[in-house]
Amino acid sequence: MTNQTASESKLEQTAARLRCIECGALCESAAPNFRCPGCGDLLEIFYPGWGSTGLSAAGLKALWRQRRTSRLAVDESGVWRFREVLPSLRDWHHAITLREGNTPVYELPSCARIAGVERLQAKHQGMNPTGSFKDTGMTVAASVAREEGFRWVGCASTGNTSASMAAYAARGGMRSLVLIPEGKISWGKLSQALDYGAVTCQLKTDFDGCLRVLNQAVQRAPVYLLNSVNPYRLEGQKTAAIELLEQLDWQVPDHVIVPGGNLGNSSALGKAFLEMKELGLVSRLPKISIIQAEGANPLVQCIREHGGKKLVPVRAETMATAIRIGNPASWKKAVRVLQTTGGTVEEVSEVEIALAKAEIGADGLGCEPASAVTLAGLKRLVKQGFVKPAESIVLILTGHLLKDPEFTLKFHRGDLFAQTGDEKEVTTAAPQQRPPIALEASVDAVLATLEKAEKAGWNT
Ligand code: F0G
Repeated sequence: MTNQTASESKLEQTAARLRCIECGALCESAAPNFRCPGCGDLLEIFYPGWGSTGLSAAGLKALWRQRRTSRLAVDESGVWRFREVLPSLRDWHHAITLREGNTPVYELPSCARIAGVERLQAKHQGMNPTGSFKDTGMTVAASVAREEGFRWVGCASTGNTSASMAAYAARGGMRSLVLIPEGKISWGKLSQALDYGAVTCQLKTDFDGCLRVLNQAVQRAPVYLLNSVNPYRLEGQKTAAIELLEQLDWQVPDHVIVPGGNLGNSSALGKAFLEMKELGLVSRLPKISIIQAEGANPLVQCIREHGGKKLVPVRAETMATAIRIGNPASWKKAVRVLQTTGGTVEEVSEVEIALAKAEIGADGLGCEPASAVTLAGLKRLVKQGFVKPAESIVLILTGHLLKDPEFTLKFHRGDLFAQTGDEKEVTTAAPQQRPPIALEASVDAVLATLEKAEKAGWNT
């Protein structure tokens, strides 16, 4: 291997192992459904060799920084750049990479004012190659699938996983099978899967039903499962937290706020922070809080009604279709993250989501509806006093604004809540609505509109 330092080769030897999160059993290899053969719970990856490498935190930080000047594909990737804390491939240079990660951290000055905090930052994972955070996990799990010799990969999805999987499969010379709930994913995401060449099946069920069918399919056909029950996905998704801390000069924020759907991402970010502490890269943890839509809130109920011990599936309904999930697979991992970091859960209404999305848009960033639950949740957490105005806060924006243009257009035209029963509440959203204005093709009409807009102020 080229450009390899002594510390790099040392850590590469610390192989990843699979362990059941419930009974602790070690698995030599994963079953097709990535469940423990003994108790049926989820698996996680751990690295027993880390304690004996003698690798210093300063050494890792320097190595990762140095790679940013390299032109090697694995170094340009914002995931593989951190390969010391990832499962090893037989050859790193065979990683399927679209140069994922490397996503910016932005200030949100007007959202900060609205939420009542001094300063607010967002790491925009929608700036990944296929427009969502899924790419960071997909590069790892798709690369593992190819090394294991799979020709087919598959996932159930609310849209982003399928878009990402289809892209990485295509880049890696594999075929992909997508199961999506009919009529319940945004067109932007569906069109991505089609263009990247997936076999795309729209099933007459919801996301949870699609996942059930896929779990059965992978037992009967040699299709590699790429949902977030696949622990290799979560390893890749960890790197967003590492990259974030690097961008913050290793200063740990007080709060990290994440949307919750199938709960893979919050689990991955939590694991990353814990491992960074274990490796001495940071000395404390941020509080990781998870926000769900009111209509798709099984984790909120799990914490509030069952003390985190039991998850009762719900029939999920929300216009934030990415997180329309009633039976999240990774709930136990997420509960552990909440408990170890001292974070909390919150739920937000459809109107709060739509409003927050437009507010993030007005800061010049934009995101998809599921990402906007973070700002909506923050507003609630500030009111409750859980987040203090002077604390440092990072929102994780998970998907790009262009993923779901239909939602955005309907919001600004004022018909998002037509026939939903939320029409009355929606007057609170009116100041954020900026509908397109139909005019005669005349300069006078344009200038009159300009004058009116100037008088009315910025947000009307
Ligand atoms: N935000 C976006 C934009 C998502 O697409 C998802 C999940 C989430 C948040 C929630 O993340 O599931 O890790 O808790 N989307 C999945 C999919 C389920 O199929 O694309 P999570």
